[in-house]
Amino acid sequence: MSTGCSCKSAQQVAMEEKFSKYVVANYTRLPITAVRGSGSKLWDINGKEYLDLFPGWGVAGLGHCHPRIAEAVARQATKLIHVANNFYIEEQGEFAEMLSTRASGQKCFFCNSGAEAAEGAIKLARLHCQPKYKIITMKDSFHGRTFAAISATGQPAYRKGFEPAVPGFSHATMNDLQSVKELVDDETCAIMLEPVQGEGGVRPATQEFLQGLRKLCDEKGMLLIFDEVQTTPARLGTWFGYQSFGIEPDILTSAKAIAGGMPLGVIMAKSDVAGAMIPGTHASTFGGNSIGCAAGIEAIKVIEDEDLMGNIVRLGGYIDQRISALAESAGIISASRRMGFMVGFELDCPGAAIVDQCRDNGLLINCTHGNILRMLPAFNITEDELSQAFDIIGRVMAK
Ligand SMILES: Cc1ncc(COP(=O)(O)O)c(C=O)c1O
Repeated sequence: MSTGCSCKSAQQVAMEEKFSKYVVANYTRLPITAVRGSGSKLWDINGKEYLDLFPGWGVAGLGHCHPRIAEAVARQATKLIHVANNFYIEEQGEFAEMLSTRASGQKCFFCNSGAEAAEGAIKLARLHCQPKYKIITMKDSFHGRTFAAISATGQPAYRKGFEPAVPGFSHATMNDLQSVKELVDDETCAIMLEPVQGEGGVRPATQEFLQGLRKLCDEKGMLLIFDEVQTTPARLGTWFGYQSFGIEPDILTSAKAIAGGMPLGVIMAKSDVAGAMIPGTHASTFGGNSIGCAAGIEAIKVIEDEDLMGNIVRLGGYIDQRISALAESAGIISASRRMGFMVGFELDCPGAAIVDQCRDNGLLINCTHGNILRMLPAFNITEDELSQAFDIIGRVMAK
């Protein structure tokens, strides 16, 4: 792994000029043009190598360019890329069966992203429970950038400039059942939350809280929706995040790593709930097309064949050890939270400079909420790669 200079090459400067001229400037971009990836390694336009512990913001769960995903996509691309959803699509049926049988018989609706899955889950909940329409979500949650998703998201900053929000959303406090109960009324149709808040700083729900929500939903005839865009598939060491808690939602959403890096989202709902979606109620042109589903099918097979959930469970303890050692040596870590391969540690100082210096030294990690360092490693990362990553963080923090 190369280390060193953060000065920009002529190629990088030219790329930035092109973006400045032709691309909407809605993203804060790193000064890197990524051109190639393999596993947990990423290379930039100048040939500099990075160890990527936040690959594709959680999309590259199998690492970059897993050869079996590349092969499945290439094979499917020469057979059939896309037909509309008024045909039966072989790969969609097979992928739905693989997901459903690894859960508990839910039905799948396929879309393209996490926000689209959130949007669809919200529509499904309203449709199933009409005329009830209110949905309670959690403060600090993140559900995506579409209108219903920013309205569901429990962080006002994401709605700023876009008001008025979609009506019917209110925000309770994670792990505080009483705060949820206080918001329930006769018009509430659902409670929606991430079982582990990701963008909110890697904050898992407690078992007790989820149990309480399940009971409350059952008593009041409301639906429990889990946004599992980050936690499914496999990231917590179980196929679906809810299986790690033993609490089953009525609807769940997933996206990110669900199709080995291809853009795909899914809503999975219990049969009786899914039944509300009849022709004409909801649709997605690209959702569940042959190529995305072929990648999804292969991703499931890879996770099984390579025992990647076993890898997550095995290496989880190693990550904990390295964070505790780091906390002792660096003295700036005030809390750490990990569930499976969702890792966050809170600093008692701003984290941006540490992330920048890690990047200069060939390591990619993320910082959220100003002081929470975050990692979403690929499920097939090795202990050696994790060790290199923590060595770099240790050296940076020591400065
Ligand atoms: C929990 C959660 N839900 C929804 C989304 C939105 O997903 P997308 O960006 O694919 O629309 C994200 C994205 O980070 C997420 O973490």
